[in-house]
Amino acid sequence: MIQTNFDLQSVNTFGISVKAKIFAAFSSMEELSELLKQFPNEERLILGGGSNLLLTKDFDGLVLKNEIKGFRVISEDEHEVIVEAGAGEIWHAFVLKCIEQNYSGLENLSLIPGSVGASPMQNIGAYGAEIKDCFESLQAYHIATGEMHTFDKAACAFGYRESVFKNKVKGQYVICAVSFRLKKNAHVNTSYGAISSELEKQGIANPSIRDVSNAVISIRQSKLPDPKVIGNAGSFFKNPIVANSVYESIKAQHPEAPFYPVDDKHGKLAAGWLIEQAGWKGKTIDTYGVHKLQALVLVNYGGSTGNQIYDLSSQIIADIETKFGVTLEREVNIL
Ligand code: FAD
Ligand code: EPU
Repeated sequence: MIQTNFDLQSVNTFGISVKAKIFAAFSSMEELSELLKQFPNEERLILGGGSNLLLTKDFDGLVLKNEIKGFRVISEDEHEVIVEAGAGEIWHAFVLKCIEQNYSGLENLSLIPGSVGASPMQNIGAYGAEIKDCFESLQAYHIATGEMHTFDKAACAFGYRESVFKNKVKGQYVICAVSFRLKKNAHVNTSYGAISSELEKQGIANPSIRDVSNAVISIRQSKLPDPKVIGNAGSFFKNPIVANSVYESIKAQHPEAPFYPVDDKHGKLAAGWLIEQAGWKGKTIDTYGVHKLQALVLVNYGGSTGNQIYDLSSQIIADIETKFGVTLEREVNIL
């Protein structure tokens, strides 16, 4: 159904109320193609679960919500399986389905909100894993020609919260299906400290992939706000990658500052730690603010505008620059 003057509040996890000129959902490539033909000149926004967006104004164009479903095994042998999911599948439901079949690889990415189709956009990651670790390929609709193109891992140019879809081919494709190469013999990854301590707390010595998934779910629920209760889009900023020398000067004042080596010369600082040190954690301004348990997450307690939250993020960026000489980059897509 095509709707006009549609309030997007229920389809973005920040819960921001702005209007879309035209809104329609599609559940097949044919429906997508028809909609694009019907509205050839409108600006477009492809929407999944709306969990990585900050809407700052009405959208004067066509919002297309991806509802392409599907789950199938493409090939398998004794050790591995390649599974494909429709882009409109809910990411966490897909992860649970893989765990049910005892296919390992995605369990550390449990409970990340959003759709399968958006997962390659920013190479979603958490708790020691990123989708690039078991990504196989994806099928995407090329808007200009109406052709389907296949992207393998190299073509996606994955990086930390990055892919070709946020850069070189931004806005040119609609991702329709994504496939992953998963292991049949469980290979659990408990390298992320919080997972091993959570498993230890639960008295689990030889975790199954379901145990790892449950541990991740419980860690996430203990610090990340549930968007159904408090509006948010997860980490608002990326963890900044800086030269070792930048870290050394911060460490001189704060020996406890977290730092994760990336290569010989660079590493990641924890943006949440920087923001907390600067005194922003838990700060509330009217109906929005910085989450009290995770300083990397900006929140809307209800009724805020996207511009209020954007302005808060600008103040935080300026303050971190002044206090630490580090420039934070927004992770959330701003529209
Ligand atoms: P949307 O917000 O709908 O879209 C995001 C971007 O992708 C937009 O630019 C949109 O146009 C584009 N897009 C969406 N679908 C398609 C498609 N099919 N084809 C082409 N373009 C498309 N992210 C992490 O990486 N790790 C985390 O641990 C994590 N934790 C989070 C926790 C919370 C509480 C929340 C609210 C968010 C978290 N996120 C995390 C961010 C978010 O869940 C991911 O970025 C997710 O992949 C977004 O999916 P979505 O379907 O909601 O995308
Ligand atoms: N920290 C603080 N104060 C805070 C938050 C964090 O001091 O308020 C410190 C922690 O104590 C820890 C370090 O910062 O030493 C890292 O914290 P955490 O493990 O919570 O992870 P993060 O860096 O804040 C990243 C991702 C998350 C992902 C988690 C788990 C980014 C931008 N964020 O957060 O992804 O779930 O690691 O792997 O990389 C998202 O992208 O939306 C997201 C939630």
